[in-house]
Amino acid sequence: MLSILLSLNLSHLGLWASGLILVLGFLKLIRLLLRRQMLARAMDSFPGPPTHWLFGHALEIQKTGSLDKVVSWAHQFPYAHPLWLGQFLGFLNIYEPDYAKAVYSRGDPKAADVYDFFLQWIGKGLLVLHGPKWYEHRKLLTPGFHYDVLKPYVAVFNNSTHAMLDKWEEKAREDKSFDIFCDVGHMALDSLMKCTFGKGNSGLSHRDNSYYLAVSDLTLLMQQRIESFQYHNDFIYWLTPHGRRFLRACQAAHDHTDQVIRERKAALQDEKEQEKIQNRRHLDFLDILLGARDESGIKLSDAELRAEVDTFMFEGHDTTTSGISWFLYCMALYPEHQSRCREEVCEILGDRDSFQWDDLGKMTYLTMCIKESLRLYPPVPQVYRQLSKPVNFVDGRSLPAGSLISLHIYALHRNSSVWPDSEVFDPLRFTPENVATRHPFAFMPFSAGPRNCIGQQFAMNEMKVVTALCLLRFEFALDPLQPPIRMPQLILRSKNGIHLRLKPLHLGSGK
Ligand code: HEM
Repeated sequence: MLSILLSLNLSHLGLWASGLILVLGFLKLIRLLLRRQMLARAMDSFPGPPTHWLFGHALEIQKTGSLDKVVSWAHQFPYAHPLWLGQFLGFLNIYEPDYAKAVYSRGDPKAADVYDFFLQWIGKGLLVLHGPKWYEHRKLLTPGFHYDVLKPYVAVFNNSTHAMLDKWEEKAREDKSFDIFCDVGHMALDSLMKCTFGKGNSGLSHRDNSYYLAVSDLTLLMQQRIESFQYHNDFIYWLTPHGRRFLRACQAAHDHTDQVIRERKAALQDEKEQEKIQNRRHLDFLDILLGARDESGIKLSDAELRAEVDTFMFEGHDTTTSGISWFLYCMALYPEHQSRCREEVCEILGDRDSFQWDDLGKMTYLTMCIKESLRLYPPVPQVYRQLSKPVNFVDGRSLPAGSLISLHIYALHRNSSVWPDSEVFDPLRFTPENVATRHPFAFMPFSAGPRNCIGQQFAMNEMKVVTALCLLRFEFALDPLQPPIRMPQLILRSKNGIHLRLKPLHLGSGK
């Protein structure tokens, strides 16, 4: 009797559960449809490329070459066009300086539909936070990028670069091209860990390397997730093989950051180490985080601490890796600019073997070439916002609060109304006279406004030291058989690596 009752109850329970799932699913669908209607209505006055009834523009975006697809759409639809990733997620994709200014000079939050995908990995760090918490953390961390803190990092950049170039000396002997991206990545991670996380003088450990590989996997999976609407729902994503691979890579990344935090906390127990920190005039990034207290004297929670470490660990090395690698590619592509940069840095360095802080301001031509390569190959090709209040654009069109914006930096930097002959590599676009006459929102590799990149000075210093040393040790040439295939993977990468031929120069300095 009991077993009959039990089986009856279980079957009722099953029915109730299925009913509940159906109702919840139905309510979710209604919510998605209403949101779609709101987003579509908001973008009514913006014509755009035809959309697939199910995928929106996702299929075209997913194809390699999506960057050039958006540039071609940008020619067809000046200012902006709707961009649908599936049926329910629609952005106004913008690539015009006045449009960029209208949105990015304000502090609207990041679009949660995209940035929430980061949460499992980098948590609520500076990149994702918004509102008073973001403001509090930004204020807290800004002194970590003060000019006095950045100064001694120049010596670190020199050392990490020399170690990479010694490795390249060996590889160059084989007299064939090789992919530089991964070595640049290891060097950038090494520098970052020494500068901001107080790592000692040893090279990258096995764990650091696992971290590096995990980030490469995470960025690939994140990009795929953004572009595939069927992966947008957390519940469904975590059940897929991609989702599980994402979780495994997150674990590998967290193991690394947890270890970095543990080591510094242990060092702080040591009195001598404490004395050293107190004697430093400026604290490094990790000191700041560990010593931080809010108005009521409360420390950052473990989750907040880890989120900031994860955020800076990722943002601080993957972006500069992309910037340096594409710059060296540009140098190989344009030997005349390569020679001019080399002449300049040779003259600055004289018979020394490393650069100093004061040298950075003298690298005029090199800096213009770095900016021109950041224009053509922006390390962060696309960023997203959600409007917290309505915006009126310069041509009279507007968008209501709640609308989603994608700023396509790659297409903005190729907008021919501000960049004549936009595909031509011309560093003179960045002479002070030319910069003064250009729209301030025409060049945004580090974004702009209150949510701009906190690490941009760090990044520019690193790029100058690293690239100058590279040019002193080697001549860079293309491998015509393996041209890079540009591909957005949160940062700008190449699908097949960046293969260059290196010829040692033995200039007498730089080593
Ligand atoms: C060439 C190198 C770099 C480029 C092109 C770059 C670009 C950017 C861009 C475009 C944003 C805005 C992101 C968004 O709106 O979603 C950003 C934000 C950020 N970047 Fe960078 N970045 C670089 C290097 C660095 C470095 C070296 C660090 C740290 C050491 C760093 C830390 C951050 C952080 C924490 C944010 C979030 C800031 C906030 O929202 O308050 N970046 N970066």
